[in-house]
Amino acid sequence: MRTVYWDYDRDVMKMIDQRLLPFEVRVPDYATYQEVAQAIRDMVVRGAPAIGAAAAFGMALAARQSRATDRLTLLRDLEEAARHLEAARPTAVNLAWGVRRLLRVAADEELESVDDVRDALLVEAQRLADEDVALNRRMAYHGAELVSEGDTILHHCNTGALATVDWGTALGVIFAAHEQGKRIHVLVDETRPRLQGARLTAWELQQKGIPFDLIADNAAGHFLRAGAVNLVLVGSDRTAANGDVANKIGTYMLGVLAKENGVPFYPVVPTSTIDLNLATGDLIPIEERDMDEVLRVGDQPIAPAGITARNPAFDVTPHRYVTGIVTEAGIVYPPFEKNLRAAVERAKQIQWSVDSGQ
Ligand code: MRU
Repeated sequence: MRTVYWDYDRDVMKMIDQRLLPFEVRVPDYATYQEVAQAIRDMVVRGAPAIGAAAAFGMALAARQSRATDRLTLLRDLEEAARHLEAARPTAVNLAWGVRRLLRVAADEELESVDDVRDALLVEAQRLADEDVALNRRMAYHGAELVSEGDTILHHCNTGALATVDWGTALGVIFAAHEQGKRIHVLVDETRPRLQGARLTAWELQQKGIPFDLIADNAAGHFLRAGAVNLVLVGSDRTAANGDVANKIGTYMLGVLAKENGVPFYPVVPTSTIDLNLATGDLIPIEERDMDEVLRVGDQPIAPAGITARNPAFDVTPHRYVTGIVTEAGIVYPPFEKNLRAAVERAKQIQWSVDSGQ
């Protein structure tokens, strides 16, 4: 099942509520772009490519909600929806990328009527979602070349089917290596404060029958120093032009410790997550979320009442700690400045043969 999809029988958008996993699988309807923006903020849907696809379907909903009878008014309504959706979460560039891609279609002069625009936006959102699945598969098989028989792979956060439309990025590489028959073991960081590793990655690995152990985040250094890890694979929410990688909080520590212990560290990054407009990771906006996420585990308080906490949701790993970056256009090595730009250009030339999830 896809994480984010359009239900063509009932003409509504659907998303798995990831806050409830692994204990309950609920897939509510979304009928307005405002509800979609709220779901992104609340992390019903999360993971950079998944929120990009959610925002694209959100734009298709916005076109249907608009009462405009002329194209100019419809475009104005869509611009308003775009601003609203883009403000939902600041770090993952896929959100703005998805919204902008839909706005470009809406501005196409060839579309004659407002209904033509409405139809074209749903077609484009569906195409974006289908391409996400196809490119994840391709990226995974590039990445699987890095995995050897018997490897133990350290993984952070959730980068699987749930973080994308389907299949996944870093976890997708692990799925591909397993599919190729390689015997692997995964160390899964629990990923405080929202526990995407414990709740979501563990759930996905268990379903695929891939051997793994869940570890507390602060155990990762111990396993790296002990020589128990062959490869670190992570995702990214935004990668700057110089190869600096923003990803789930805690990734930077892994990058530094991997280098210190001579373990290769590879972010797995679709080119939609590469932001060539930002020269370095210092320019990437880092979301700071509600301190309650740190002060509680689920609904359970874990600290004295009345104290404060800090909750940055992402950090930046400078490119000097990055061995290489896996993309759908191949694995990119330093100098990242030049080679990432070339990978983005190569990716534009790829013709996706997409298997629609409709
Ligand atoms: O806060 P989240 O759960 O949306 O953060 C997700 C991550 O940091 C992932 O590693 C990232 O989106 C890339 S994987 C598809």
